[in-house]
Amino acid sequence: MRLFLIGFMGSGKSHWGRLLAQQIGDPFFDLDHVIVESEQKTVARIFAELGEEYFRIKEKETLERLVEENPAFIISCGGGTPCFFNNISFMKRYGTVVWLNTDLNVLVQRLLKEKDTRPLLRDIPEEEMKSFIMKKLLGRKQYYQQAHLIVNEDALTVDTFMKILTDA
Ligand code: S3P
Repeated sequence: MRLFLIGFMGSGKSHWGRLLAQQIGDPFFDLDHVIVESEQKTVARIFAELGEEYFRIKEKETLERLVEENPAFIISCGGGTPCFFNNISFMKRYGTVVWLNTDLNVLVQRLLKEKDTRPLLRDIPEEEMKSFIMKKLLGRKQYYQQAHLIVNEDALTVDTFMKILTDA
């Protein structure tokens, strides 16, 4: 399978990517982790020391390299991956793109716990998180909506996810 999981930060891309890869038996790549390993820096440090633009270029290059080097894969993208350069059309050309469309309130709950490790969220005051996420999500929907499949994470199981993929 050649599968790209996209969706907002906290939507469960890494979690579901890992589970699906175990089930299917294809190699799993977490795009952020691959970048962190090759740069030997956390995503937060890459943003702080080298800037977002540098990260976005690395993100695009890493995405393209993983696709080139692996005949089958499950790639969990970063939340911004489909929104930069031509990444969304690239992914659609080389595999199936799935948007994990997770409920806004679930995103807010999860991200409030992890905001300090996320460069785009760390400076947002807690009370402004919901409106910040809402606005950012609104801007990004035009990219996420281009996915081949849209999966609602609510009450999702590996079996139902597998069925959605095989029925498609
Ligand atoms: C980002 C999401 C992060 C990471 C970076 C930027 C974004 O990935 O790539 O902090 O722009 O939404 P996750 O969605 O895996 O947290």
